[in-house]
Amino acid sequence: MTFLRNTWYVAMWGEDLGPAQIEQRVICGQPIAVFRQADGTVAAVADRCSHRFAPLSAGRVCGDRVECLYHGLQFAADGRCVVNPHGAGRITPQLHLRSYPVVERHTLLWIWLGEPEAADPALIPDFSHLDDGAPGIFSKRDWMVIDVDYRLMADNLLDLSHVNFLHDGLLGHPGMNDAEVEIREEIEVSGATTLYVTRTSRNVRPPHLFDLMYRNDQAPVDVWAEMRWNAPGYLRNHAGITQPGAAREEGLIVVGSHLLTPIDERRMMYHICAVQLGAVPPVADEEVAATLSRLRRFAFEEQDRPMVEAQQRAYDQAGGPDALKPVMLSIDAGPLRARRLLADLIGSEQVGVEAAATPVTITLS
Ligand code: FES
Ligand SMILES: [Fe+2]
Repeated sequence: MTFLRNTWYVAMWGEDLGPAQIEQRVICGQPIAVFRQADGTVAAVADRCSHRFAPLSAGRVCGDRVECLYHGLQFAADGRCVVNPHGAGRITPQLHLRSYPVVERHTLLWIWLGEPEAADPALIPDFSHLDDGAPGIFSKRDWMVIDVDYRLMADNLLDLSHVNFLHDGLLGHPGMNDAEVEIREEIEVSGATTLYVTRTSRNVRPPHLFDLMYRNDQAPVDVWAEMRWNAPGYLRNHAGITQPGAAREEGLIVVGSHLLTPIDERRMMYHICAVQLGAVPPVADEEVAATLSRLRRFAFEEQDRPMVEAQQRAYDQAGGPDALKPVMLSIDAGPLRARRLLADLIGSEQVGVEAAATPVTITLS
């Protein structure tokens, strides 16, 4: 599998890298040592010492450099070897390491894998709802490693018809099957394409988990879920329920962030956080709040995760990501569009031409 190179990948939550801390992250098969310097800025260099390939992430941060644990070579944030404690201390260009541009934004650390001169922070998708001080009630900023091709997880998130089956009784129910689906693309100033896949159900029974956070009375509501996608795997789900016919802002709004970073072709990091917005106050009852968090975890850990990992095993058994050809249904229009956009971007990097991005609007019923 070929990965997109000229893009920002989420490495971790900023709060997970304390002062003078160094961590390894593998992104698109590349081991990277990420460390916080004395002045708080974050640097990233290849996590493979140029001497005998020890992982620098096993070493320590000394001010604005990192020292290899094995024989003590020191490297600056830009990857240059600056100290050789052996012999005459000679430093040759072969000792320098690759460094990666890093930006700390929206409480996340973003690493650029492509040509450094093309690393424009304006290309980072807008996750400002995660900023410190942004309005809303935040769930824990969480992350985990999942044994799947990150594109399978994007397929899952861009086709939320599955909530009516896989999460029946929790996040959806079959009464929401005939939702209106709108697929919309916007071309950003940067030239990047943002994809929106929106499902709306009117005057239906509320999904149980939303109802618990709303009025807990099973009275009919309008339900929406607007999933926004940016390459290579950044999704924001603006979802909620409100009184039939009422404005979204009058109801319960939950904005979910789903940040998918490929580790390799069949493993990914999943950074996740939910923010509650809208006119509805947060659940005050501690017991209900505990039930909510248990049910949320159950939906992902007992329902989504086993399903996508089982899909991955089916691909593995058949011989890899291209060994099976799924039969597409109408519900697959969103996931297909995202895969097409991503494949075009990757293809354009291969041949060195710009992707042909044509905005489309598809309405399915
Ligand atoms: S392996 Fe890093 S200094 Fe020897
Ligand atoms: Fe799901």
